[in-house]
Amino acid sequence: MNLVIIGAQWGDEGKGKIVDYLAGESDIVVRYSGGANAGHTIVADGEEFALHLVPSGILYPDKTVILGSCMVIDPKALFDEIAMLEKRGVRTAGRVLISDRAHIVLPHYIALDKERDAARKQPIGTTGRGIGITFSQKAERDGIRLADLEWQAKLDELPAESRDFILSYKERLQSMSVNLTAFLMRRKGRRVLFEGAQGALLDIDSGTYPFVSSGMSGAAGAAAGGGLGPRSLDKVMGVFKAYSTRVGNGPFPTEFDPAREGEGSLCSYIRETGREYGVTTGRPRRCGYLDLVALRYACDVNSIDSLVMTHLDVYDTLTEIKACTAYDINGTHTEDFPASIPALEAARPVFKTFTGWRSPTTGINGAEALPPAAKDYIKFIEDYCRTRVGIISVGKDRAQTFVRESVWSV
Ligand code: IMP
Repeated sequence: MNLVIIGAQWGDEGKGKIVDYLAGESDIVVRYSGGANAGHTIVADGEEFALHLVPSGILYPDKTVILGSCMVIDPKALFDEIAMLEKRGVRTAGRVLISDRAHIVLPHYIALDKERDAARKQPIGTTGRGIGITFSQKAERDGIRLADLEWQAKLDELPAESRDFILSYKERLQSMSVNLTAFLMRRKGRRVLFEGAQGALLDIDSGTYPFVSSGMSGAAGAAAGGGLGPRSLDKVMGVFKAYSTRVGNGPFPTEFDPAREGEGSLCSYIRETGREYGVTTGRPRRCGYLDLVALRYACDVNSIDSLVMTHLDVYDTLTEIKACTAYDINGTHTEDFPASIPALEAARPVFKTFTGWRSPTTGINGAEALPPAAKDYIKFIEDYCRTRVGIISVGKDRAQTFVRESVWSV
């Protein structure tokens, strides 16, 4: 079975933890999009790992993990990450493969990414990892893929510095290179987990363009980057937080009023309790209430079959919780998520208020034990999004995860 896990908001929904959890039940994990801009935090047996490129299944010694065709890979960042894993006792030899169609990030793209974003009148707030530059080189048909490492005439076109950089990694990259389609077709019937990066609303096509990343972070990217056609994908699960966050710039209709940030504010409470700081850049994340207009759109545009709710425990002490059920855009009420940035910037959220449950959920041992007010909140989300919440997470550890419906059935 081919199962896709995507972020259903603006990234940082807790996908790393969920993929890690489900990886235990799969044979192969394929990360299908993005690059070292992603930051996936996994806590296993009390130990915390921050991964940027290596798929989250790496912590299980018997799993094969693959960096997919639509990924853009900075070899230095990749081998630093592999060295970090080895140093901490995670065996990686022979277990990390890379699609031969994946593109390579060159060192000067990183500086260029930062320069270009700083020069924008409205900066995107990129992670500065050279992602956008690599994707634009790819679209220009000037990119370098793993498969091109044996194409001397192509390498000869590169400036000497870039060629030397690539050649210094050539052997190691080639030893990990795989024809992804052939590899997966030979393993038909196995459980394959397609791990997304970023989130639905950062997808180049269906996100809040131009305030997006440059890859296909939605479910369609799993087919493109996973080496299989769209009809091979059996199920799509969308991970979302009980509230919303965003890093970088761009519209965020339910954001807590930045003017009222600071100690004692709801924003600081959520940021500190939820540890809302970027794993890749350390930037504080912007925080806000759950946006159901955006979440339902993410469900619809990605064919999400089942939702995964994370960080529910962050709300444990609040007396009152809100969620946005519509936008008021210059006097017009809508539940449709607009493409227009001025419309999204003008959108005033229409909130529904829920009573808080004011009791700890972190120590409970199953979804049935959730307080009734938390169950009401979840039920409302399911009804609004017309999608069941199949998994609920109430803490960082693997054990704080409640599966409400069978994951490996369609
Ligand atoms: P880029 O991917 O570095 O070009 O950044 C483009 C936008 O996507 C910026 O707003 C980043 O903050 C955001 N972004 C990129 N990767 C992630 C991620 O993994 N989580 C959250 N936001 C991300």
